Amino acid sequence: MAKKIVKAMNRNQKHLNHIDTINLGSYYTPEVIVDLAYSILQKNIKNIKDFSIIDSSCGYGSFLARKNIAKRLIGADIDQKAISEAKKIIGEVDFICQNSLLNVSRPSLTIKNDEKIITIGNPPYNDTTSIIRNSIKDTSIQDKIDADIKTRDLGMSFLLSYDKLKADYVCVLHPLSYLIKKANFALLSKFAKNYKLIDGIIISSHEFSDTSRGMAFPILIALYKRDEQGMGYDYIQNYQFKVKDDGVFRLKDFDTIVNYVQKYPNKKFLNKNDRPVAKFWTLRDINALKRNRTFINEDTYNTVYVLMEKLPYYCYIDIFKQYTDRMPYFIGNCDVIIDNEKFGKIKECFIAQSVHTNPVLKNKFKFREIPGAKLKIDNYFKELLESKFGKKYATNFN
Ligand SMILES: C[S@@+](CC[C@H](N)C(=O)[O-])C[C@H]1O[C@@H](n2cnc3c(N)ncnc32)[C@H](O)[C@@H]1O
Repeated sequence: MAKKIVKAMNRNQKHLNHIDTINLGSYYTPEVIVDLAYSILQKNIKNIKDFSIIDSSCGYGSFLARKNIAKRLIGADIDQKAISEAKKIIGEVDFICQNSLLNVSRPSLTIKNDEKIITIGNPPYNDTTSIIRNSIKDTSIQDKIDADIKTRDLGMSFLLSYDKLKADYVCVLHPLSYLIKKANFALLSKFAKNYKLIDGIIISSHEFSDTSRGMAFPILIALYKRDEQGMGYDYIQNYQFKVKDDGVFRLKDFDTIVNYVQKYPNKKFLNKNDRPVAKFWTLRDINALKRNRTFINEDTYNTVYVLMEKLPYYCYIDIFKQYTDRMPYFIGNCDVIIDNEKFGKIKECFIAQSVHTNPVLKNKFKFREIPGAKLKIDNYFKELLESKFGKKYATNFN
C-alpha cells in the first residue's frame, strides 16, 4: 500500500466516539494484517484478476487500497463519514454507503449474478448479548438485519451475508471462537454448509492498537472456499491452525476438563441423594476463567454443585487459574486443558494446594499439607506447556 495512503488513513480513522466505536465494531486493520490476508489470498488463488473483491464493511478502505489486483474493487460501509473519507483517500473503488446486513443481495452491491467474487475485510465483531460493555451497546442494531442472517453477533451475521451473496471465496478476520466454540459454530451452520476453511493464520487481538488494553484473544485471518460439502465441527477439531510467529495447533490434540466435569449450572441434574461438597462458578473458556472466581459460597444461577468424587478436578481448575498467564493467548477460547494421566498421579497435590490457597475451600475442608506439592504442580504445568506448545512456554518455572 502506498505510504501516502497509509498516512492519510492513520490520520483519519478516529472520527467516532467510544460508544459508536463499540456499536459499529470500528477497529481499523493495521497494514501488516491486511498484507497477511492478501498473502493468504495470493497463495491460494492463482487468478485473482478474474474476481471482484468486495469489502462490505470497509471503513476507510484498508483492504481496498490495492491497485490492479482484481477485476473490480467494491467497498460498502454504514458509516457515511468513513465512506466519504475513503473516497478521498483511495481511487478506483466503487464505494457505497449502506447497511450491508439489510436486504442483502448482489444488486445492492452492484454485483452481477455471474460475477466471480471474493469478500474480504474485517467485519465488526460485537456480541450484542454479552455482558461486557453492555450498558453502551445499542441492541436496536438487531432490528436492522435480515431475519435469515440474524445472530447475536454482528460478525457472524456478516459471515452469513457472504453466503447470501454466494461469494466464491471469503477472506476475513473473525474471532477464532466463532469456529471452535460449538454453540457459535452451530449458529453459523448455514455458512458452514456451503464453505470450507482452506487456509488461515491466527493473530492476537493485541495487534490492533485500540483493543490492546483488554485481555488478548485469538483472531483468525480465515480463507474459506465455497464448497458443496461444507465443513462439520469435526473438520474444525481436526484442522491444523497456524499461529503468527508461533507454531500450529489442533483442537483434537488437547484433552480438556469438559471430558470429566460439568461446566454449566447443574442443579436440575442432581439426584435426590447427591450431597454436593462445594460450589463452583460456571466454567466457560480459559479467558473467562482468568476473570471469574472458581470456588464460591453462594447459590446463584451460575452455581455448579460439586460432588465429592469430582472435587479433585475442580481443584485442578482452581490451580490452573494460577497458571493462565503462562498459557498462549491463542488457546484463550479453549476449555481448560489437562493431561489426565499425569494429573491422576499427583491429584492429591492439587487438592492440598487448592485447599490451602483458596479462601473458600480453606474454611470448608481440612487436608494434610503435602511437602513439595507446589514443585510437583509446577513441573506438571511445565511439561504440559512444553509438550503442547514448545519449550518457550516452559521457561521460568522453578
Ligand atoms: C472492524 S471495522 C473494519 C473496517 C475496515 N474493513 C478495516 O479493516 O479497517 C468494521 C466496520 O464495519 C462497519 N459496519 C458496522 N456495521 C455495519 C453494517 N451493518 N453494514 C455496513 N458496515 C457496517 C463499521 O462502520 C466499521 O467501519
